[in-house]
Amino acid sequence: MSGTVYLVGAGPGAADLLTLRAARLLGEAGIVLHDALVPAEILALAPGAEKVPVGKRSGRHSTVQRFINKRLADAAREHAVVVRLKGGDPMLFGRAQEEIRYLVSRGIRVEVVPGVTAALAAAAQAGVSLTERGVARSVAFVTPRVGEGAAPSSWLDAARAADTVAIYMGAGDAPAIARALIGAGRSPSLPVVLVENASQAGSRTIAGTLAELPALAAQLNGGAATILLGEVFSAAVVAKRQPRRRPQAR
Ligand SMILES: C[S@@+](CC[C@H](N)C(=O)[O-])C[C@H]1O[C@@H](n2cnc3c(N)ncnc32)[C@H](O)[C@@H]1O
Repeated sequence: MSGTVYLVGAGPGAADLLTLRAARLLGEAGIVLHDALVPAEILALAPGAEKVPVGKRSGRHSTVQRFINKRLADAAREHAVVVRLKGGDPMLFGRAQEEIRYLVSRGIRVEVVPGVTAALAAAAQAGVSLTERGVARSVAFVTPRVGEGAAPSSWLDAARAADTVAIYMGAGDAPAIARALIGAGRSPSLPVVLVENASQAGSRTIAGTLAELPALAAQLNGGAATILLGEVFSAAVVAKRQPRRRPQAR
């Protein structure tokens, strides 16, 4: 048996943001190796499959990538359809390339099924377009986070140059990120929006300025969060600052 390994994007959490192709493959899968962030409702779409949790949450238990690669190759020997289910989109901060390289070098077929990435789900949740004519014509997806032994990230160069910036895996390092960005010349009054658990029940959107980023991040509840920054968010920041108007008594 030489099955196909499908690297499938599970999206940001809401099951109905899954693509139809992802749902079909889950239904056909003999085995699903999935990230920790993938909700049970999505795993339930693979009733006939063995489910193997292999993902990690930052700062928590991490399954070694080498083990995941080997497990995928072994699974392809036993099952026609192997699904490697990853949060968001597999091709963005998802270590997809390491898995693709390993599997292809062993002659195993790999296909990728895109998913809705966190930055786009966060923009939808905030109700703000990442681009806007006359305001923002470039978007950078960055993370300051690097793997053990990897070269330092060049995220700051991209975050300095782009009109709009989406920072993944950054909420825990908010003070250092704010310091670095301001030190690199971004305005302390640049609008910032943090979106926690985008697309899921209990999602939160917190807005303020770059100077306030550490205080904003301290309000998060420990869920997955994406930091968005840029002038496109200025109206969102103003709206958050305005006191709620009480309904008029008749
Ligand atoms: C390892 S990265 C994986 C990104 C994923 N491949 C994607 O395309 O969204 C995990 C980071 O994605 C972001 N993230 C994932 N799900 C999210 C959600 N529902 N709401 C906000 N941010 C999320 C957070 O910044 C989190 O630290």
